[in-house]
Amino acid sequence: MLGNARIRLRPTLIDDLDYVISVETDPVNLPSITPWDRTQHEAAVRFPDFRHFLVEAGDRGQPVGFVILSGCRNRHKSIELKRMVIQTKGQGLGRACLRLLKQVAFEDLGAHRFWLDVKSHNTRAKALYDSEGYVEEGRLRECVRGPDGYESLVVMSMLHPEYVARREAGLEAAA
Ligand SMILES: CC(C)(COP(=O)(O)OP(=O)(O)OC[C@H]1O[C@@H](n2cnc3c(N)ncnc32)[C@H](O)[C@@H]1OP(=O)(O)O)[C@@H](O)C(=O)NCCC(=O)NCCS
Repeated sequence: MLGNARIRLRPTLIDDLDYVISVETDPVNLPSITPWDRTQHEAAVRFPDFRHFLVEAGDRGQPVGFVILSGCRNRHKSIELKRMVIQTKGQGLGRACLRLLKQVAFEDLGAHRFWLDVKSHNTRAKALYDSEGYVEEGRLRECVRGPDGYESLVVMSMLHPEYVARREAGLEAAA
């Protein structure tokens, strides 16, 4: 279990996957992500290259979402934030979760680069990543096909020295 007073990351169990899939296929979240089928989640729970976590918050540790890291055994130390879905939106839990994930990626898993992609229309997530110090690397133009046509992905990353500078400036404290 990783976390602080506000938020915790608990390794996802196979029994948690009904919850994970219900959150992932919620119409509120679907436009922002490309959902996986259950087999892909099962693989991510089991394979050590992934970290699949349930996000819990509050006194009783209620589930509020889930996250997936991939490339955790990557020889280039380039770890991907594959998915982050916070169901209880707008209460600062996404920011708290991202701070914790940076700590896990850089301090526990030894990442040199912690990267992600975000659909260009996803202004909420993009604003979060911008304000958390992520640097835009480029844009994969119209690379995913959604119900309303092609969409572009913005690739963003943070490097270890950038994380250390933010931590030393007091910008990586638990949110
Ligand atoms: C993106 C997501 C993880 C953010 O989590 P959250 O708990 O809602 O976000 P927070 O409450 O911590 O807010 C973080 C920042 O997002 C931005 N934000 C929040 N709500 C917003 C809105 N309605 N419109 C635009 N920006 C918004 C703000 O910059 C906010 O920071 P601030 O409150 O200090 O101004 C969550 O909304 C989510 O799961 N969305 C659906 C799935 C998704 O988009 N995942 C990411 C794919 S890359």
